[in-house]
Amino acid sequence: MAEDRWNEFYATGEYERCAYLAGEEMDEYVDRFLDGSGADPESFASVGCGPAVTEFALAERHPDVEFYCCDLSGDVIRDDREVADRRDLSNISFHVRSLPDLDMGRELDIVYCMATLYFVEAIEDAIEALYDHVKPGGYLIFNYPNEATREWLRDEPEGKREFFAPVASGTNLLTRAEIEQLLGTDVDDYWEFVGATELQSGDSPAVFVER
Ligand SMILES: C[S@@+](CC[C@H](N)C(=O)[O-])C[C@H]1O[C@@H](n2cnc3c(N)ncnc32)[C@H](O)[C@@H]1O
Repeated sequence: MAEDRWNEFYATGEYERCAYLAGEEMDEYVDRFLDGSGADPESFASVGCGPAVTEFALAERHPDVEFYCCDLSGDVIRDDREVADRRDLSNISFHVRSLPDLDMGRELDIVYCMATLYFVEAIEDAIEALYDHVKPGGYLIFNYPNEATREWLRDEPEGKREFFAPVASGTNLLTRAEIEQLLGTDVDDYWEFVGATELQSGDSPAVFVER
């Protein structure tokens, strides 16, 4: 299972602490989203946070916002807690939680899930669980795999295809129309909204939706 691969990956302790998709641009994009949408969150959840590079940068810039970060891997969560201690950050916390049976025990103003749904077989249940954790008037932001993601994966090495097993088998590919049907509302293109031209119309589509 993809989950087992991630647990093994972090257990080696030899992973790079990086932000996926657009690297360090990712936190700038969140700030553009907050400015453009007028969202003024008190709380921000990141699901599948991994090394939480984006979330640490945001927590430093937004000391009044509470960042609740979670991942299925207890190893990366332990490492993230150490980084938070070293940086003396008290507005960011780390928790072991996994999709699709997400239980954060509360609703938050922003729920953010990047570069994570590729690995979740029951993607529709996961998206519903994420949406259920958004406060009314708040936003869900996420990216998802589509047919273009599967095309991209075809040329990647075997090891990577094992991580992305649900994408490789085509079981968790979605279209924007299917997401809108699932959530019962229109969604907007996140990359377009934040001016991330290099990611638009690519193999990592991302959307946002107000609850
Ligand atoms: C490619 S990393 C992305 C990390 C971070 N969100 C970023 O964009 O830099 C994917 C992360 O999703 C986590 N993950 C995979 N499947 C998950 C699941 N079912 N529930 C929660 N986290 C999961 C992995 O442990 C990993 O940390």
